[in-house]
Amino acid sequence: MHALRAVFAPTCSPFREKPFLLERLMLIESGSPVAADTRVGISLTINGQHRELQVAPWTTLLDLLRETLDLTGTKKGCDHGQCGACTVLVDGVRVNSCLALAVMKDGAEVTTVEGLAGLSNGGAGSNGLHPMQAAFVEHDAFQCGYCTPGQLCSSVGMMNEGHAHSRDEIREAMSGNICRCGAYTNIVDAIEDVMAQDGAAQDLGAAR
Ligand code: FES
Ligand code: FES
Repeated sequence: MHALRAVFAPTCSPFREKPFLLERLMLIESGSPVAADTRVGISLTINGQHRELQVAPWTTLLDLLRETLDLTGTKKGCDHGQCGACTVLVDGVRVNSCLALAVMKDGAEVTTVEGLAGLSNGGAGSNGLHPMQAAFVEHDAFQCGYCTPGQLCSSVGMMNEGHAHSRDEIREAMSGNICRCGAYTNIVDAIEDVMAQDGAAQDLGAAR
């Protein structure tokens, strides 16, 4: 542990800003100093494509997606797990990718907004969109669009969880995804629409 702190802490901003990353790194600590050019081999299936990757142990899943794989649909907002802009699906579960070390997701299946259409049971619609994407367009559920990839992945993950059945429950379940433009009403409309199509919503038409 001391070796890791000595090697990384003085120069590596992720550890200054996110001490918990250092704690996570203990899981792969070998007990000896780790060189700054250390890379760990991992395999991920990203949007249906198998990838063998060499990553620095401290690389977040968000940075791997954006900086290495050029999948820039996933957004970096707060980089501290507070805004949800970086939400992706890992094995069908919504995850803040800024809080996940890539090495911790070895072997996982990752879906970003770029691959969302491929998750649709009936395949992408004629417009090439996942039903949730189409509903966001239909309900004008965004303004600047910065939060939208995270909102989309989070809403699909929320439906996988199966806990939200009303507008209030949708709002609660989506509360980790911040929209600075305040498009919340239309976002909930879009999600509710898809849930209705899916038969998941029980009290549609509740007071808005
Ligand atoms: S960028 Fe990950 S939660 Fe804000
Ligand atoms: S649409 Fe602008 S932040 Fe949500």
